[in-house]
Amino acid sequence: MFSLKDKITLVTGAGSGIGAAVAEVFSKAGGFVFLTDRDEKTGRETTAQITGQGGKAEFLSLDVTNEADCERIAKTVLDRFSRLDVLVNNAGIGHVGTMLTTTGADLDRLYSVNVRGMFNMSKLFLPGMVARKIGSIVNMASIGGVVAVKDRLAYCTSKFAVVGMTKALALDHARDGVRVNCICPGRVETPFVTNWIKQYSDPEAAYRMACDTQAVGRMARPDEIAYAALYLASDESSFMTGSEFKIDGGFSVGK
Ligand SMILES: NC(=O)c1ccc[n+]([C@@H]2O[C@H](COP(=O)([O-])OP(=O)(O)OC[C@H]3O[C@@H](n4cnc5c(N)ncnc54)[C@H](O)[C@@H]3O)[C@@H](O)[C@H]2O)c1
Repeated sequence: MFSLKDKITLVTGAGSGIGAAVAEVFSKAGGFVFLTDRDEKTGRETTAQITGQGGKAEFLSLDVTNEADCERIAKTVLDRFSRLDVLVNNAGIGHVGTMLTTTGADLDRLYSVNVRGMFNMSKLFLPGMVARKIGSIVNMASIGGVVAVKDRLAYCTSKFAVVGMTKALALDHARDGVRVNCICPGRVETPFVTNWIKQYSDPEAAYRMACDTQAVGRMARPDEIAYAALYLASDESSFMTGSEFKIDGGFSVGK
C-alpha cells in the first residue's frame, strides 16, 4: 500500500463520489485529509465517517468558484500546518448537450467549477510547494478530456482544458519539485451519473447504456479511481508528471 504518512492533503468536492473515496483512501494511507465541499452536509458526514474509523480528517466548507473562499481555506491550512503536500482538484459538475442545446451560460458555469476552480486552488498552494520544492497536484479530468463523448460539448471542452492546464503546469514546475498529473476516469457510479440516469424515461436502459460505454461492460466504483489518486499523491510516483492517467474500463480503446 502506498503511504501518505506525515502528508497534509486537501481534496475538493470530497463530500460525495470520487472525492469522498479519495479522502477515505488517503486517510487509510496515513495522511491528514482536509475534506472540502460546497455541500456542508455531505462533507461533514463523509468526514465523520473517516474520523469514526480513526482517520485524521477535518471538514472545511469551500466553493471552488469563490476566490475569497479559496483564500480563506488556503490561509486556514497554511496557518495550521505551514504547508500542503498534496492537492486534489476533484470538484466538478456535468452538463448534457450538443452545441445546439448548450448555452454560453452553461459553458461558463462548467468552466467556473471544472477549470477556474482548479486554477484558483492551484494558484494558492503552488507557491508554497515551489518554495519547499515538494508537492503533488492531482486534477480530476475525465475520459471526456481525452476523447469526445457524444452530447457532452461543454463538459468535454472543460475537461480537455483540465488536461491542458495539467500539462502546462507540470512543464512549468517540473524542476521545482512539484508534480502535476490528472486522472481520466470512464463512467463511475456516483451521484454525478446516477442523478443523470434518473432523468431518463427509461432509467434502466440509461443505466445499461452508461455501463456499455466501457469495454468491460460496467461502471467503475469510486475507490477504483481513488487508488490512482493515492499513487499519484505518493512519493512512489516520483517520476510521473504531466500525465493523463486513464482509468476507463476500456472506454477509449475503440468500438
Ligand atoms: N462519475 C463519473 O462518471 C466521472 C467520470 C469522469 C470524471 N468525473 C469527474 O470526477 C469528479 C468528481 O465527480 P463525482 O462523480 O464524484 O461527482 P459527485 O457529484 O458525486 O461529487 C462532486 C462533488 O463536488 C462538489 N462540488 C460541485 N461543485 C463544487 C464547487 N463549486 N465547489 C466545491 N465543491 C463542489 C459537490 O458538492 C460534490 O460533493 C468531477 O470532476 C467529475 O467531472 C466523474
